[in-house]
Amino acid sequence: MSPIDMFQLKGQRAVIIGGTGVLGGQFTRCLSGAGAQVTILGRSAERGNALVEELRLAGGDANFIEVDVKERKDLVMAAQITQSQGGTDILINAAGVNSRTPFFDMADEEFNNLLDVNLGAVFRACQIFAPQMSDRTAGASIINISSASSGPPLSNVFAYAAAKAGVNNLTQFLAREFAPVGIRVNAIVPGFFPAEQNRALLTKERVENIIRHTPMRRLGDTHEINGTILWLAAQKASGFVTGALIPVDGGFLSMTI
Ligand SMILES: NC(=O)c1ccc[n+]([C@@H]2O[C@H](COP(=O)([O-])OP(=O)(O)OC[C@H]3O[C@@H](n4cnc5c(N)ncnc54)[C@H](O)[C@@H]3O)[C@@H](O)[C@H]2O)c1
Repeated sequence: MSPIDMFQLKGQRAVIIGGTGVLGGQFTRCLSGAGAQVTILGRSAERGNALVEELRLAGGDANFIEVDVKERKDLVMAAQITQSQGGTDILINAAGVNSRTPFFDMADEEFNNLLDVNLGAVFRACQIFAPQMSDRTAGASIINISSASSGPPLSNVFAYAAAKAGVNNLTQFLAREFAPVGIRVNAIVPGFFPAEQNRALLTKERVENIIRHTPMRRLGDTHEINGTILWLAAQKASGFVTGALIPVDGGFLSMTI
């Protein structure tokens, strides 16, 4: 097989949760460009439909389903649709919210919301979609989007960091549970990429601190995660990789003095 064929996703069906976000949008364009049929799940019908239109104009096969990842019934409804369309080979969990509320100011409601969107939704989506991903002829792949804050935790974002640590742990647990039915489960651990959920957090001072702590001395460009997404999605390229937590962070997590 040629190295290029290894990354072909023709005939594969991908679900991207949070696919209208900054990183999720990149993942969606990337998988569609590699030939996958993509189903985008997100909260904004306006953004979702605009992305579907863009992908179709480029020759892709795409559709959008409006969901709130906090609502189990929304994910069940989306899974029923994807099942009726032929099932799912690739699932990307890329919804997320963040907050800089200080520890002593955070109310239970906000804490629970951060845990629910960043971790609870990954649990629900894996539970709901896994049955239609098991025993696919070519194997299946779940990719969870964690964060460099998953540990050691970053300053300011303790609840988000705790949730992302949970995503890492759940990823490794599910890698073991799902291997017998042919589903690989991995996580990407991104460093810092300017997006909606971190706009308020990335102040000038914080960006300077991040860059000082990053061997490559810069933030990431969103398209720089695409190679890792494509590799983990493509069975022929990463078929023996499961339970891996892959940093894409310019060296942030390996930095000491
Ligand atoms: N950008 C970064 O630097 C960075 C770093 C580490 C991890 N991440 C993670 O990458 C993923 C993508 O984030 P992003 O940076 O592209 O931010 P983003 O804000 O652009 O995207 C997040 C998406 O999640 C969706 N979302 C939030 N709550 C939802 C809900 N209840 N139901 C449905 N959708 C919901 C938003 O609508 C948005 O489309 C997140 O999991 C985030 O934690 C991002």
